[in-house]
Amino acid sequence: MNQKHSSNTVWHHATVTRVRRERLNHHQSAVLWFTGLSGSGKSTLAHALEEYLHQQQCRTFVLDGDNVRHGLCADLGFSIEDRSENMRRLGELGKLFVESGNITLTAFISPLKADRAQARQLIGERDFIEIFCDCSLNTCEKRDVKGLYKKARAGEIKQFTGISSPYEQPDNPDILIDTDKQSLEESVRIIAKYLNQRGICQLDLTQTVD
Ligand code: ADX
Repeated sequence: MNQKHSSNTVWHHATVTRVRRERLNHHQSAVLWFTGLSGSGKSTLAHALEEYLHQQQCRTFVLDGDNVRHGLCADLGFSIEDRSENMRRLGELGKLFVESGNITLTAFISPLKADRAQARQLIGERDFIEIFCDCSLNTCEKRDVKGLYKKARAGEIKQFTGISSPYEQPDNPDILIDTDKQSLEESVRIIAKYLNQRGICQLDLTQTVD
């Protein structure tokens, strides 16, 4: 992708800063970057966690791979190049969301280590929390919630992650959730505990989701 930027643009600094927004929100902002195969539970977990955070007065937003591909990234396919460009845009978006004071939860396959590393660099080490939804291809394929694995096996979808396109597992994710074995409630709690430990928010861990 040809990246151009005009030499005639000047960055405008806001008076309402991230710090002021965080103070108003009573929590810090961060990007919770879920990664994993299609069907590994990224969106389900991101939305369940968002519900939990929202019920505890946190400002949140979920950016979902399928959804952003309807608009912002509608011009992109699933080649390695397009996926990289997808990551670049979403990394930039994540960075803006951090400035907005939100806790942003992203659910993109984000299959390549290099692209995730780039997003981490862009968003910043402190604000980027990588959550690996670890689930075997076998289980994802058995679940086949969207019926896409069946199509990919039949050759009707090309470059399908895990079948005909690579997925590189994170070596050292900030949080690993075994979505094969851990329940949704347990998984939400693990992440909530992490957010408390990092001082990002102060969640009441005795609360359950209504
Ligand atoms: S990513 O690889 O660029 O991060 P992204 O998360 O945006 O992928 O989109 C993945 C979603 O697109 C999948 O959950 C699935 O519903 C759909 N999809 C359609 N074609 C493919 C494909 N070839 N590979 C993976 N997912 C696909």
